[in-house]
Amino acid sequence: MDRILITGGSRLQGTVRVSGAKNAALPILASTILGGGECRVTNVPAVVDVVTMGKLLGMLGASVKIEGNRAAVGVEHVHSTEAPYDLVRTMRASVLVLGPLVARWGEATVSLPGGCAIGTRPVNLHLAGLAKLGAEVAIEHGYIRAKATRLRGARIALDTPTVTGTENLMMAACLAEGTTVIENAAKEPEISDLASFLVKRGAKIFGAGTDLITVEGVSALRGADHEVIPDRIEAGTYLAAGAITGGDVCVEGCRPEHLEAVIVKLREAGAEVTEKKESIRLKAPRRPKAADVKTFVHPGFPTDMQAQIMALLCVAEGTSVITETVFESRFIHVPELRRMGADIKVDGNHAVVNGSSHLTGAPVMASDLRASAGLILAGLAAEGITEVSRVYHLDRGYERIEQKLRGLGASVNRVHGTAKGAAGAAAGIPS
Ligand code: UD1
Repeated sequence: MDRILITGGSRLQGTVRVSGAKNAALPILASTILGGGECRVTNVPAVVDVVTMGKLLGMLGASVKIEGNRAAVGVEHVHSTEAPYDLVRTMRASVLVLGPLVARWGEATVSLPGGCAIGTRPVNLHLAGLAKLGAEVAIEHGYIRAKATRLRGARIALDTPTVTGTENLMMAACLAEGTTVIENAAKEPEISDLASFLVKRGAKIFGAGTDLITVEGVSALRGADHEVIPDRIEAGTYLAAGAITGGDVCVEGCRPEHLEAVIVKLREAGAEVTEKKESIRLKAPRRPKAADVKTFVHPGFPTDMQAQIMALLCVAEGTSVITETVFESRFIHVPELRRMGADIKVDGNHAVVNGSSHLTGAPVMASDLRASAGLILAGLAAEGITEVSRVYHLDRGYERIEQKLRGLGASVNRVHGTAKGAAGAAAGIPS
């Protein structure tokens, strides 16, 4: 298993370009199931989750070609409507094929995703919404089975604004008979990007990006070309990397308007942040200041940036309180940060972070995608070597992160295999 080795202490400087948003590319690729005709998608991030989605579409019968940052997908027919457990357990977002499969092919069998490190993560709202659209939905032997001759438009009020739930229902509604209204919809930019792709394909969607989405069903969708929006979480991660090292970093190819809540907190932590149309420059003081952070649905502070901002606040001057409101157990990175000398107390969904003047490198274990990024950031600020294991989480969602960080002057290296400890690998002994 690969590990990432970080030698802390370098001040990051320079420019880094962000990749396309994983969380927009995945629903966009899943939505190709909704119609015939070739879909050519560009700015697709070269990350493992995208490969997994390509594999799943291929298993269903789609023709899929993913090369570099381009994907070409055609779904003229399917020979299976099943997303198997082995795939879904490696990527929860596989559930995004559920709505499109039922809407176009009348049935879907999708392994029920289990809980994961960050919470129980049910999909009850996806299922209740599909039932409202007229699908027969059952759970049997660990699988969701959904069937419908043709979905019918309906009014769906979501209990909580789920991101992939909103996407699943919006996609399904595109081919339903009549009008669907989704109330309390999630407002993340990735939902708007999916909607703009679907509209190019002939769908009639109004209000994506607000909490009230209206979809007028059409009988078929055609192929279309689309460029995926930049990854706001990746951009935020590099800004936080600049901030934690007292650096001067410019993140290019991003959309500052998607990062407002993150920028507010980076400024509160003492950084000077300049926004341009498609770039953000951050100049950080030698040591950040404490700031209180509460995660929230968009446009609030994203839960996917919580681990990274926590790493930053671990070295801040003063005490910060982080409140996680989106997922119930998303503080799993805390014990790992403590191994690096961080002073963090967790009480329910609050974490009290007493900033310390320095962290020390240690072997740590990544528990999920964003926790991995948080640990790498902590490693950048720590004295000595940090060794992050279980890097497969990181590879699911960050394209070439070591290379990009090295481009900013960080000492970050990937070590393949399991044999050697940090000291051996840092000394260049292959393992
Ligand atoms: C998506 C993102 C993930 C991000 C999360 C929150 C993708 C592929 N993943 O995940 O990176 O961290 O949004 O911004 O886009 N919930 C229910 N019932 C449901 C669905 C959700 O109770 O049927 C709850 C969840 O347990 C959670 C909250 O709603 O507490 C938000 O989850 P949700 O928005 O659904 O997250 P995902 O779409 O899985």
